[in-house]
Amino acid sequence: MIRRLLALPNDDSRKIVFVAVSLCLVCSLLVSATAVLLQPLQEIEAGKNLRRNVLLAAGLMSEDDDDSRIDELFGRLEPRVVDLRSGAFTDAVNPENFNARTAARDPELGEAIADDADIANIRRRARFAVVHLVRDGDRIERIVLPAHGYGLWSTMYAFIALDADLNTVAAINFYEHGETPGLGGEIENPRWRSLWQGKLIFDEAGDVRLEVIKGNVDPANVAAAWQVDGISGSTLTGNGVTNMVRYWFGPDGFGPFLDRLRSEGV
Ligand SMILES: Cc1cc2nc3c(=O)[nH]c(=O)nc-3n(C[C@H](O)[C@H](O)[C@H](O)COP(=O)(O)O)c2cc1C
Repeated sequence: MIRRLLALPNDDSRKIVFVAVSLCLVCSLLVSATAVLLQPLQEIEAGKNLRRNVLLAAGLMSEDDDDSRIDELFGRLEPRVVDLRSGAFTDAVNPENFNARTAARDPELGEAIADDADIANIRRRARFAVVHLVRDGDRIERIVLPAHGYGLWSTMYAFIALDADLNTVAAINFYEHGETPGLGGEIENPRWRSLWQGKLIFDEAGDVRLEVIKGNVDPANVAAAWQVDGISGSTLTGNGVTNMVRYWFGPDGFGPFLDRLRSEGV
């Protein structure tokens, strides 16, 4: 049958269809085999990238460092799982392989967020979160918390590190988003991210007050400690970042956990 088709003249429509279909089949087989074979490698790289970003937020690595020390440095961090509702540490899931994104979609591990509480516009969230502690002996030096929220075009994923007072921002690191390069995409610019260092999340009343404003912060303003410069032409992404911070440090995010940590320690 194949021989008979190949023996036909090149301009015969049956031969043209046969060659085209065969070519498509071979190419799709090649593409799917490559995708399947490369998947484990991709997962290893994704894991490495995530660890690198936690380390950047933890202050244990700098942008210029190569990846050779990731495993060694990551060993200095203490990963713990937090039950977001109660704010308590839990062993319910393994922090090594817990994936908050897949968990959010899971009926057991995730939950829907009520519309009026969903300020970060994420609809669902995992019931647990993995946080990373940087210790100096018994004392917590820094704590790295994951956060995500919707910007203008996309969900933006970040790690936010707090100093020992659980209020001062040590670092923020956006590691995944789909905002426009040069506009909202500037959230990943190290210069803009450095503006966050030393800013305060909570005010004296314990309310989340940190926000990305439109324009530049006036250092003489009493609110300056809770304000970060906006990115020009990107107010909507900035609003998304503010909403993300408000959600994740509020009562539906890490609020109960931070309250518990303040009163009980670890
Ligand atoms: C193609 C295109 C891409 C844009 N991307 C972003 C973006 O990623 N983030 C953002 O906040 N605004 C983006 N904007 C601009 C917004 O529509 C809006 O004008 C802006 O956020 C207002 O900010 P401003 O008040 O600082 O000018 C984009 C606009 C265009 C035309």
